[in-house]
Amino acid sequence: MSEEAQLTALCERLGASAGQAQTMARQLMKRADQLADTRGITRVEAMAHLLELVTKGVRGETPAGFEGVDVRAAAPKPVDPSEREQTVLALPMQEKLRALFRDTFGREPEVIARAPGRIEFIGNHTDYNGGTVLGAAVDRGIWVAAAARTDNQRRLFSRIGGEIVTHSGELVPVTGSHNWVNYPLGVLHALTHFGLRVPEGFDYVAESDLPTGAGLSSSAAIELASALAFIRLTGQEVPRETLVKIGRYAENHFVGVPCGILDQGVSGFGQKDHLVFIDCRGPSFSTVPMPSGTHFWIFNTHTKHALVDGLYAARHRECMEAAKALGVELLADGTLAQLEAAKEALSDVAFRRARHVIEEIGRVDATREALRRSDLQAVGAALTASHRSSQHLFENSTPELDFLVDRLVETPDVLGARLTGGGFGGAVMAFTTEQFSSAAADTVAGKYRDAFGSAPDVLHMQTGPGADVVVG
Ligand code: GLA
Repeated sequence: MSEEAQLTALCERLGASAGQAQTMARQLMKRADQLADTRGITRVEAMAHLLELVTKGVRGETPAGFEGVDVRAAAPKPVDPSEREQTVLALPMQEKLRALFRDTFGREPEVIARAPGRIEFIGNHTDYNGGTVLGAAVDRGIWVAAAARTDNQRRLFSRIGGEIVTHSGELVPVTGSHNWVNYPLGVLHALTHFGLRVPEGFDYVAESDLPTGAGLSSSAAIELASALAFIRLTGQEVPRETLVKIGRYAENHFVGVPCGILDQGVSGFGQKDHLVFIDCRGPSFSTVPMPSGTHFWIFNTHTKHALVDGLYAARHRECMEAAKALGVELLADGTLAQLEAAKEALSDVAFRRARHVIEEIGRVDATREALRRSDLQAVGAALTASHRSSQHLFENSTPELDFLVDRLVETPDVLGARLTGGGFGGAVMAFTTEQFSSAAADTVAGKYRDAFGSAPDVLHMQTGPGADVVVG
């Protein structure tokens, strides 16, 4: 199939009429040639960039250079990435990353590593409380390419940052617009903490095919991909448990978020068609097969509470205080009976936070049992109950997330729905049977648009393998 035909088919799938789609396809090809000429990037890169803009257009922004084409009117339907993947849009990431590395540093990378994003299936804020959690690695993530340098310069590039960040000397967190480099720098800091060697100097490029702001944990993905790349670059090997702990250490001690092990654990131990079960106390990791014929849909609201990091840290603190008041080290050690007995001694907030965590751990275990029995209704009910507990007890939901859950659970073929990740904005996950369709997802998205003014991104996510070195 010619490039023009592929692009036309893509634009049609995005909702354009046949005539519009062909015009869009031709403009895309022309713009890609122009960009490649004027920006000194490869045509492959230029096309990837343009297709990203078109996808943004689907979310309601008209990209610059597309003034002649009303992308918004042409493409009212949310994009389904599983369809998109089969098109030119999904240039193989490895090829994209190599091109970016070559264009940025004028050389070839020595290693390439990738780590997936994750869906939090159930187990909300249980991880740092020593509880259990179930998550799934998705088939999208962050890719890192790196090559050693003979001087001690660390040169880092990603298209999010847009320019090369050069760094040398002491490892201290960066503030301002380049602060994304705190993830790879934090990993270097963590490697030293774990007694591992770090590359003195290197060229480094990170590239993502993970939807941003969807609560799919791009931070854990960049930590694990960076750790794998640095470890391979220095000729070392580490067990997967250590890799996961390195990622969390970077996040806790360098980036400054007091997260648990969920995100890094799922990114590290993910397997296609499986959920990852983590007992965060050990921590210990195992996998549970996904029931056949079940699917994940993500509804990304693109909303984010301005104080999201502070709120996460506040919940962490509240949980630790509640554990102390209960006389246990971590809330996972407390029981509901103990909590009821201590009710008078606890503040209302501490009581509700503790109840959420203790009951949520119970729901994770019930979900695991229900998965074993293939009791999909019971799994779905636990997921929705988890959301209600976030909504009323842990108070990390928002009106937008609640609205989506309300609409989803009244839709046929939805087994359960809940916020996924830390909360305070972000995305809702629906767990569905295979009968749930794009049309049904569009209906929910349309209702949301009517209520809140802009449609959420709808992503039909596939599970995928855990973090690994791809080249080198
Ligand atoms: C974020 C954190 C995780 C976990 C979840 C909530 O994703 O990074 O460690 O605490 O929130 O369950």
